[in-house]
Amino acid sequence: MSDRTDRAGWTPPLRRRRRSRWAAQTPTWREARPALIADALKRASARPSGNWFVVGASRDVRAGGPPYGRTVGGVEVVVWRSDAGELRAGPGTCPHLGAPLRDSRVVCGELVCHWHGLALDGGPFAGWDPYPVHDDGVLVWVRLDPVGGEEPSERPFVPVRPVAGSAVDAVFTAVGRCEPQDVVANRLDPWHGSWFHPYSFVDLTVARPPRGEEDDVFVVDVSFRVTDRLVVPVRAEFTAPEPRTVVMHITEGEGATSVVETHATPLTGEADERPRTAVIEAVVAASDRRGFALARAAAPALRPLMRRTAARLWRDDLAYAERRWRLRSTGRFPG
Ligand code: FES
Ligand SMILES: [Fe+2]
Repeated sequence: MSDRTDRAGWTPPLRRRRRSRWAAQTPTWREARPALIADALKRASARPSGNWFVVGASRDVRAGGPPYGRTVGGVEVVVWRSDAGELRAGPGTCPHLGAPLRDSRVVCGELVCHWHGLALDGGPFAGWDPYPVHDDGVLVWVRLDPVGGEEPSERPFVPVRPVAGSAVDAVFTAVGRCEPQDVVANRLDPWHGSWFHPYSFVDLTVARPPRGEEDDVFVVDVSFRVTDRLVVPVRAEFTAPEPRTVVMHITEGEGATSVVETHATPLTGEADERPRTAVIEAVVAASDRRGFALARAAAPALRPLMRRTAARLWRDDLAYAERRWRLRSTGRFPG
């Protein structure tokens, strides 16, 4: 360590890199074996979810704010907060004559239907039965037992994250014409990174692919591109803790301990011929750098920037997932 590094506890995050042609990088297709990706996907799909589904960002559901609605697996769900900030969730259809409760109003912590004024306090009422709901500080999860069809669990399987308060988080949502497994399969193919997203990633290598249930992790070395010549090298680990979630943990390099969680929530029911899936991605960025305290203070300004980066990547990744679904659903998927 140099004196300067010692004194300031600081190492420059950016590395200079020589310019290189896209086509000159090493092809990754030989390593990205379809069977390896399919096996990782199969193991992920077999893990329990406890029937929990991510519906949105915690900050999308404000105390005193309007209700938040989303359809999950063909089931309309409404979520709101009590005056004390506690989450309430249940069917998004009014038990009286079916008004869409997502368009209703929250008055003194109660959801008041805008058609005839029926008020729900979050407890069972006239055939309306609440759904279990969980706020993990970044995301809101709802448990839908008939949609999940698994053994229910008390809580969702929330990935390990940097300590609250030491991180900046942003949540990004996009919707694609595919099933959750297509979104997960895209994430379990890290090899496409620097080929398909050259504007964001360079020098991607999979240092270690998963070795089965015991060691089910992709260890990836990659550089995030800041400008044409400046990059930030990191090591990241990809895991699928449950069937609809893939997590990227940054384990070494700038932003170590940061996580990017990709959650795939089915919007349509299982029998739907035109499935749609929401990708709800939470970026929880952490850093030891002193400047990061400033970044935290600037979080409201940073969030749109973080979301913009995710939006560009997801435009391409959804094209990948949608393509995979189209091929699968017409029996044309290779292999
Ligand atoms: S439809 Fe909601 S109160 Fe009548
Ligand atoms: Fe991608």
